[in-house]
Amino acid sequence: MSKAALLNQVAWDDFSAMSGSEKAPYFLKPGEQKSYHALLAQQFSRPMLEELCSLATCVRRIAKTHEGSRFLQSQLFDKRAMLYFSQPSTRTYLSFYSACQIIGLQTINVRDSKTSSEVKGESPEDTVRTFSSYTDLIIMRHPAGGFAERIAWMLSNTSRPVPVINAGSGKDQHPTQALLDIYTLDRSFEKTGGIDGKSVVFVGDLKRGRTVRSLAWLLTKYESIKMYFVAPPELQIGEDILAQLDAAGVPYELSGDFEKVIPEADAIYMTRIQDEWDVDNESSAIDTEAYHFKKEHLALLKKTGVIMHPLPRRKEIDPAVDSDPRAMYWRQVRNGMWIRSALILSIFGCDQAVRDFYEGSLS
Ligand code: NCD
Repeated sequence: MSKAALLNQVAWDDFSAMSGSEKAPYFLKPGEQKSYHALLAQQFSRPMLEELCSLATCVRRIAKTHEGSRFLQSQLFDKRAMLYFSQPSTRTYLSFYSACQIIGLQTINVRDSKTSSEVKGESPEDTVRTFSSYTDLIIMRHPAGGFAERIAWMLSNTSRPVPVINAGSGKDQHPTQALLDIYTLDRSFEKTGGIDGKSVVFVGDLKRGRTVRSLAWLLTKYESIKMYFVAPPELQIGEDILAQLDAAGVPYELSGDFEKVIPEADAIYMTRIQDEWDVDNESSAIDTEAYHFKKEHLALLKKTGVIMHPLPRRKEIDPAVDSDPRAMYWRQVRNGMWIRSALILSIFGCDQAVRDFYEGSLS
């Protein structure tokens, strides 16, 4: 039998030098294909993705009734979650906050490091260790890539290890956004054979968009996927992602011609310019007009195609597109709440109880 991968039994330097796939087993419950932490897209296998999507659907349907809501809220009433967001956030924060309310988990939050003792010179590690003393789960967004992993590792060496969920780390990863994107694709293609065999077109700032990086990885878990990366040359997708796609045998094309690629798409994933990472306002010189989805583009898109965006948007999608049934970005927002509820329930081992309640409600 292979040895369980335990975070408290590996030195930080050895751990941080590992690839995402090598780190993945350390974030799972020992001996199970279920997440304990949720830190990297690489930790989710296809069966895990399918389970989370089906659990999210159970939660969504159960929550429709008064009795169901009461049941969901009874699941984690004795647990507390820390929402630690030291980067701006509207949707991810509110989505996690709402998910916690749906499943009865109480929340406390710090949304600005200036209001915590970090301003008194406390290290971010000590600050988060303090959070873990009061709570049973830490959900965190941080500008430094890998910081959530560092926290999970650090807490695993304390007397109070708690699960950590990465709600966006630097330019690097946004695994729960990728989960909600997968759930949205899964629901969108329910009647057209599922996600397998689909072509997904990523558009915009692919170099610094963490949602694209996490979703591209999750899509490698599906059969016969093709990806298109459409961006100005300065903002094209990183070589590391392309190397992962090569290793996974996923075909892809890089393009600068958005209109030519639209008819190929089953899903178009628009993103905004991530200029908060500019060093010298350099992206203001890039003409991105050709990478916007305009109303006239609807005629080029397949009838069964979908348009997605992690939001917030600027001018990437004309608001006139919002009323088209293929526009999925507002549904993504809602799907995030369901899949995050499912993820937290599964972390705390409540998934079977939820499935049993759902089955019972059908009979
Ligand atoms: C994204 C993010 O924070 O990476 N937003 C989100 O979580 N929905 C995308 C973005 O900010 O452009």
